[in-house]
Amino acid sequence: MLLKTVILLLILVTPVLMLDNGLMLTPPMGWLAWERFRCNVDCDEDPKNCISERLFMEMADRLAQDGWRDLGYVYLNIDDCWIGGRDSKGRLVPDPTRFPHGIAFLADYAHSLGLKLGIYEDMGQMTCMGYPGTTLDKVEQDAQTFAEWKVDMLKLDGCFSTPSERAQGYPKMAAALNATGHPIAFSCSWPAYEGGLPPRVNYTLLSEICNLWRNYDDIQDSWKSVLSIVDWFVKNQDILQPVAGPGHWNDPDMLLIGNFGLSFEQARAQMALWTVLAAPLFMSTDLRTISPQNMDILQNPLIIKIHQDPLGIQGQRILKEKFNIEVFKRPLSKDASALVFFSRRTDMPYRYHSTLKQLDFPSSRVYEGQDVFSGDIITGLRSETNFTVVINPSGVVMWYLYPVKNLDISDQMTYL
Ligand SMILES: *[C@@H]1O[C@H](CO)[C@@H](O)[C@H](O)[C@H]1NC(C)=O
Ligand SMILES: *[C@@H]1O[C@H](CO)[C@@H](O)[C@H](O)[C@H]1NC(C)=O
Ligand SMILES: *[C@@H]1O[C@H](CO)[C@@H](O)[C@H](O)[C@H]1NC(C)=O
Repeated sequence: MLLKTVILLLILVTPVLMLDNGLMLTPPMGWLAWERFRCNVDCDEDPKNCISERLFMEMADRLAQDGWRDLGYVYLNIDDCWIGGRDSKGRLVPDPTRFPHGIAFLADYAHSLGLKLGIYEDMGQMTCMGYPGTTLDKVEQDAQTFAEWKVDMLKLDGCFSTPSERAQGYPKMAAALNATGHPIAFSCSWPAYEGGLPPRVNYTLLSEICNLWRNYDDIQDSWKSVLSIVDWFVKNQDILQPVAGPGHWNDPDMLLIGNFGLSFEQARAQMALWTVLAAPLFMSTDLRTISPQNMDILQNPLIIKIHQDPLGIQGQRILKEKFNIEVFKRPLSKDASALVFFSRRTDMPYRYHSTLKQLDFPSSRVYEGQDVFSGDIITGLRSETNFTVVINPSGVVMWYLYPVKNLDISDQMTYL
């Protein structure tokens, strides 16, 4: 009788499932192992950098002690290559030599420092690197295991599965995570495996079951990779921009800042573009050795304020000039905006002239604000004011702007 009731309840509940876990109302921030540390499992040869409890504890210490956590970088996320196998009851267990105290221990450690722990699995036979995956029959058990360990986030990859297994598996995992009663943010790699676009990808459905999703290719440690991702997101912005919002975000993948492939200008450009796109900010770099210059980029308080804007509107490219300058704009709360002037040029700093009128700002207001990187104060900008920004090759200028005065009475009435 009880079983019948439970089954009836499940039937009643399943069709109205909505992602309502209350998590990630602004885009998440944190650290994720993959881009920098990959599947380095050789702890004999490289004990400091192999995927192990030690690596995550050392990154947790840095997140807590070096100002990251207090700025919002709270997720400490494991990626592939942590799994040792399944026990006699089919439960996932971590690699016993690299994670000798287990994942629950690591979650406790993260929580004791005010951080959240993220974990990785794969909807399929195996993870991308060949570790045991979550097949359809294992979804509920694995969700339960993660909840018992008090994990706060799951990234579910999509290697070694068919489109139909993914179509069943991702909604099933969302329901299973919810059923644990433990709030676990859900990152879905699903759309990246279906080409990232409708009709194969249903973004309405994704925003009901996932807090964030990877739309496109993995990022690699190069500017070329950043540009290919930016190009794809811009090309498809009319589809992607409307589907992002509080609790559900497009994810163009990790930040490369602090690694080897980006120049100083390019590092700033990635930070500015990811911020204006309301993308998750997952660093993937060695926080034990990161330079002060790269820390300054990642810890810029005004950038983070823009990134965490409560409206959670994804920005768009609004202008593409013939001479390889592009302008991106993100609307923010209280009628503020972020602008990113981006140079794809390869010659020299470019003196770009524009007006707010050209950038679709209302004519009736006066704006002020700040250059995010230089700290320069901007005042008295009217819609017709001719301004100049100097943008370095493969670099950006980023502005935070807000209206200070209305010029016309009728507009002022509606404003009040
Ligand atoms: C599960 O879903 C319900 C209904 O959408 C929601 O109210 C609840 O907070 C969710 N619980 C968890 C743990 O995600
Ligand atoms: C997409 O998913 C939503 C929500 O589950 C559903 O209502 C809608 O019919 C789907 N759209 C298509 C084109 O399948
Ligand atoms: C803006 O100023 C620059 C340099 O001062 C000038 O070259 C440009 O023609 C001006 N543009 C407009 C629209 O007045």
